[in-house]
Order: sequence, then C-alpha cells, then structure tokens
Amino acid sequence: MRRPRIRGKAALGATAALGALGLAGLAVGQILPPLPAHPVTGVTPVGFLAAPIADTTPNAAQLQRGQYLVRAGDCVSCHMREGGDPLSGGFALKTPFGTIYSANITSDRETGIGGWTPDQFHRAMHDGIDDQGKNLYPALPYPWFRRISRADDDAMLAYLKTTPAVSYTPPPNKLPFPFNIRFLVKFWNVLFLKSTDFRADPRQSAEWNRGAYLVTGLGHCGGCHTPKNWLGADKGGQDLQSGKLDNWVAPDLTANPRTGLGGWSVEEVAEYLKTGRNARAGAGGAMADVITYSTSLLSDADRHAMAVYLKTRPAGAEPAIGAPDAHAMARGAAIYSDACASCHLENGVGQPRLFPPLGHDAVLQQADPTGLEHIILAGSRVGTSPAAPTPLTMPSFAWKLTDQQVADVSTYIRNSWGNRAAAVSSGSVRSLRKSLDLEAIRYTANSGDQN
Ligand code: HEC
Ligand code: HEC
Ligand code: HEC
Repeated sequence: MRRPRIRGKAALGATAALGALGLAGLAVGQILPPLPAHPVTGVTPVGFLAAPIADTTPNAAQLQRGQYLVRAGDCVSCHMREGGDPLSGGFALKTPFGTIYSANITSDRETGIGGWTPDQFHRAMHDGIDDQGKNLYPALPYPWFRRISRADDDAMLAYLKTTPAVSYTPPPNKLPFPFNIRFLVKFWNVLFLKSTDFRADPRQSAEWNRGAYLVTGLGHCGGCHTPKNWLGADKGGQDLQSGKLDNWVAPDLTANPRTGLGGWSVEEVAEYLKTGRNARAGAGGAMADVITYSTSLLSDADRHAMAVYLKTRPAGAEPAIGAPDAHAMARGAAIYSDACASCHLENGVGQPRLFPPLGHDAVLQQADPTGLEHIILAGSRVGTSPAAPTPLTMPSFAWKLTDQQVADVSTYIRNSWGNRAAAVSSGSVRSLRKSLDLEAIRYTANSGDQN
C-alpha cells in the first residue's frame, strides 16, 4: 500500500437528538467496499478504515457504525503522523501558540485508549477532559464533537478498541508559558465553549437535520471554514464564512452567490465531497485530506444531507470593493494569455472536471487571496508530484512569475468573467512566498519585482 500522505494542518480552533429522531440508522453494510487510490490525492485510504466488518462479527452493527463515524469525524487526518500507523497519533498540529501533538487513540492499553471506559471517552469528546481529569486542548475539535450523540460516541469507542494496538507515545507538546498550562483551558472553555448538544430543528426536514448533525458535529467543518479570533475560537455570528489555515483559505460555505456555495447545486456540493472535484472546482490543501479520509468514505445519502444543510447557511455582510487598477488588469491579462490560457482557456472557460473554469469562481473571490496566491506559486500537488505539469495538476509558477506578476494575474482573474474581488498586492505574495517551503517544488529564485 502506498504510504498515505498527510499535509501539515493548522489546529482547528485554538481551538442525541438524532437517534431519537430515528435518523441515526446508517445502512453501513452497503457502503464499505475497500477503496482504490483516491483519484485526486492519489492516496490509498487506510486499510482497516475501509475494510468491511462481517455481519457475523459479534456486535457487528455497533462496530460498523463506529467505523463509519470515525470516518465522518476525519480522526485519521489528525491522528496519524507521516510514516506512522493510522490512529497512533504524534501528528504535529501547528497552532499560533505552539505545536500540539495528537494522541495515540489505538486500542493499546498503555499508550492508547484501549483501557478507557465509555464515560471517559464521552467526557473527552464532549468536554475536552482526558481519563486523568486533565483538560485537553481544543486542537482536538471537542467544541464541535460535543454535538455527537452519546450512542455515537459509544459506537466509536467500541470500534476504536478493535483497531490494531500500537505502542507509541507522542512527543511532548512544544508550547511556551503560559500555554503549556492545561488548566488554563478551563478559562478558554468558559469564554468560548458555547456549543450545546445537538438539537434537531423540528421545522426542517429529517435530511436537513442529518446534514446539520454531520456538518456542525463530527465533520467539524467550521473548524477550518469559520473565521477565528486571536485565541483561536470561532468569531461569533460568522459561521462558515471562511477561515484561514496553513497558508490556505478554507472558503466561505454560506449561500453567498459570489464567494460561497450560492451558485452551486446540492448535487455539485455532494459530488465535490465525494470525488474532490466537480464541474466548478478541484480540492487542494487540507480539503484534499478531508475528502480522502472522510467525506469520500461516507454514503451518498449523508453527502447529500450535508449539501442540503450547507445550502441554507446565511451569507455574511458584503464588503465594498473598489475598481481594480487598469494597468494591473492589462498586465494581468497578458500574463494570463501567456501562462494560464493553455489550460484554463481564453475567457477562463476551462474544461470542466479537467481544468476548473475560472469564471464565477468562489475560491478566486475570497476576501483573503492567500489560497489563490498559494495555488499559483506552489501548484496543486505540493509534496507529491512537485511541479509536474501532468494534465490534471496545476503546475507551480514560483519559478516563472515575480511577486508583482502573481499579484497582477490574480487581480485580473479576480475581476474577469463575472468575478469581482479586491486587488491583490505584491507584498502579500512576497510574504506568502517566504513562508512556503518552495524548495520542495524546485523553486529557482525569481522573486524580483517588475516595474
Ligand atoms: C483537528 C485534529 C483532530 C481531529 C480531527 C481529531 N483529533 Fe483527537 N486529538 C487531537 C489532538 C491534537 C489531541 C491531543 C490534545 C491534547 O494533548 O490536549 C487529541 C486527543 C484525542 C483524545 C484524547 C486521548 C488521550 O490519550 O488523552 C481522544 C480520545 C481523541 N483525540 C479522539 C478523537 C476521535 C475519536 C476523533 C474522530 C472522531 C478525533 N480525535 C479527531 C486532534 C484531533
Ligand atoms: C482541515 C481544514 C478543513 C476542514 C476540516 C474542512 N475543510 Fe473544506 N476546505 C478546506 C480548504 C483549505 C478548502 C479550499 C481548497 C482549495 O482551495 O482547493 C476547502 C474547500 C471546501 C469546499 C469547496 C469550496 C469552493 O468554493 O471551492 C467545500 C464545498 C468544502 N470545503 C466543504 C467542507 C465540508 C462540508 C467540511 C466538513 C465535512 C469541510 N469542508 C471541512 C479546509 C477544510
Ligand atoms: C498545465 C495546465 C495548467 C496551467 C498552465 C494552469 N493551470 Fe490552473 N489549474 C490546472 C488544474 C489541473 C487545476 C485543478 C487542480 C486540482 O484540482 O488539483 C487548476 C486549478 C487552478 C485554480 C483553482 C480553481 C478552483 O476553483 O479550485 C486556479 C485559481 C488556477 N488554476 C489558476 C491558474 C492561473 C492563474 C494560471 C496561470 C498563472 C494557471 N492556473 C495555469 C491546470 C493548469
């Protein structure tokens, strides 16, 4: 099996009612065929996560459900380090406060959670308290996980206890004083832990409620897609209105027609969550991992439910956007014809599912252009197929375009073919270029500014 690739990922946040509604019954038996390498990321999903659990296994229904929920919670993306065993932890989450290592959650009794009781596990997922009574950092997304029903927590623990025991202790966290004092998380919780248990909305359909349960609970989509305050907690009232992590932007997922999912159909959202691609976009950055280890492994019904819920999220206030500079637009148009039009075609029409069309594109129009600058500088496959212009990969342009040229072509495509967004400055490209590991994509220095 090819070794799974996990990208760097910033911490999310410094960061039972459904059972009662009868929605939790998952037809897991039909949805667990072993999966081939993922078409977008090229990664083979971790064997046991995809391996079917025979109906004859004792307690099969609960174990199948637990396995499914572990996928829905994307536990593997965070609980596996490069080259390490799945779920054994030791993955370094870089937060603005320092580095936090994920825990070993395999069935090992000494170093994992094999000896945990259901009450202890539920307290960790719901309140962020470990088996010793110590606070866990909200890098474990318990502000979202607390919406998981008790029955679902029990099923996940039952399943995790059947995973191969791996004896491994992650390195100690690298957190400066005072962030190394776990006790202080109690104050963070008092200030920011506002989420309650999941309450179904009786005015909405069963499908909408299922989607809400997955998106705001296990899926912890807001962990990346909601803007954060200086202590890493969600900014109030701005749910899913776009966040930033690891030099990528997790775009607006609200109904905003320009920057959000307003122009996408429910089917298009569901297709993206299944394959990482649809006629409008292709997934890059941390979203490629979310798709590989989580949403591609869910049922069509659940992806549809998440899409139905997402399509009803209210858009935020629209900022005023000034007209772009005509000279920057003219320079950007020339660069586009020279460097981009061969794949995305003149007028940005692209070739759906091969080269994303760039007109009316949400990723391009985010208020924060970091994600756009990132894909132009680094291409779409950082780390795996460096800068290789295979037909389905966006090549790196770091070696070819100056900071000013990246800014100009960005300004141009952000203001063409139905797009409308603030101009991009060469300074923001310069600082991004400094923080990216462009050595990895055979960067040959060329960052001098034009004019
Ligand atoms: C965004 C990354 C992330 C995701 C996703 C995530 N975890 Fe974690 N988890 C962490 C980190 C980081 C820690 C360690 C926190 C600390 O040391 O305070 C942790 C700790 C834990 C612990 C405490 C273990 C111990 O020994 O103290 C449990 C239990 C746990 N995670 C279960 C899960 C489960 C189950 C899932 C999937 C439903 C999951 N996690 C998904 C990052 C994550
Ligand atoms: C670990 C961070 C992270 C998590 C968790 C996450 N996303 Fe994303 N998501 C991203 C990033 C980064 C992008 C931008 C990808 C790109 O630019 O190609 C993205 C892109 C998307 C897009 C495409 C938007 C567009 O306009 O092109 C959709 C839809 C999406 N995510 C849905 C979800 C859903 C639903 C969940 C929860 C199940 C989720 N995401 C969880 C980071 C995340
Ligand atoms: C060799 C073909 C090729 C060239 C040349 C190319 N691209 Fe791309 N581009 C792609 C492919 C393929 C993707 C989809 C990447 C993926 O899904 O992993 C993409 C994705 C993108 C995206 C993300 C769109 C979205 O909604 O997800 C943007 C923006 C983009 N390209 C802009 C540009 C710009 C600007 C240039 C010129 C500087 C350019 N591309 C040149 C092939 C190309």
